[in-house]
Amino acid sequence: MNLEITPLKNEALGALVHGWEPDSSLAEDDRKIVLDALHKFVVLVFRGNPQPSDEALIAFAQQFGDLVKGSEWFQDQDAKPEILRVNNIYDVDGIPQGTGGAEKLGWHADYSYVPRVGKESFLNAVELPAKPPRTSFCNQYRALETLPDETVEKLRKLRAFHSITQYISGEPSAMDDKPEKSGSAVTREARAGFLAKRERNRQLGVEKPDIPQAEHPLIMKHPDTGREILYISPQIIKAIIGLPKEASDALIKELTDHSLREENIYHHDWQVGDMVMFDTLGSLHARESWDPAQRRVMRQLSTML
Ligand SMILES: [Fe+2]
Repeated sequence: MNLEITPLKNEALGALVHGWEPDSSLAEDDRKIVLDALHKFVVLVFRGNPQPSDEALIAFAQQFGDLVKGSEWFQDQDAKPEILRVNNIYDVDGIPQGTGGAEKLGWHADYSYVPRVGKESFLNAVELPAKPPRTSFCNQYRALETLPDETVEKLRKLRAFHSITQYISGEPSAMDDKPEKSGSAVTREARAGFLAKRERNRQLGVEKPDIPQAEHPLIMKHPDTGREILYISPQIIKAIIGLPKEASDALIKELTDHSLREENIYHHDWQVGDMVMFDTLGSLHARESWDPAQRRVMRQLSTML
């Protein structure tokens, strides 16, 4: 494979990858080229390649680690549970075929709410609306590097609680009022779809695992590089363990504001066929909303730590 990697004109993160052949297996040398580039650029945009089949996408992602069976947690009936169907397609009975919804998705790190968090993610555009929503990525290595030393020392002792139980319980929350403004990591429409899928599965007697909750350090170390990361997942991070609620909320806000400065961010404009591989551990991402009357069909996979 003749992989060509070109840095994007963005200081914070991102590189373009040409030459990927999804139907060929990835030689060890090429795997190393991709991984080294990911460690350097955090976000890699594979463009200009043939659209991978489901099987090719799984085979590629598996080269980098154990895959999360994301679609099981989201109550989907997919024969390939490693692929999370991020789309707004609904069955005739109004139940989403995938994650559902066209609302804005707030900043988060994939699977921060499970014990084995997301490590790398792969997001592929199959079908896009006329005005595709951008996905934005924030560099959490840089966020940590630019914090004052005394703050970093304080964070070293702290752990945070991550959860999306509100999503799975169906309880109302602040996001119900202004989903567009709050930009939750789990949108109102997607949550309604999740509840409908769970009810359908219950009626069919299909057992799907519950979405777990987890605690993680605020500073994580990438296992491959040893580089440290400011590990927050705004919207999903509920509390800093051991701090009074007010202090916990204030620290989460401070770290979120510090991270989400424009100089840390890359905004991706999608083209059909793009496959974006990102360092899930070392970044945050968010998605704009789009016209719900138009289809947006994506496939997502993640390796776990
Ligand atoms: Fe995500």
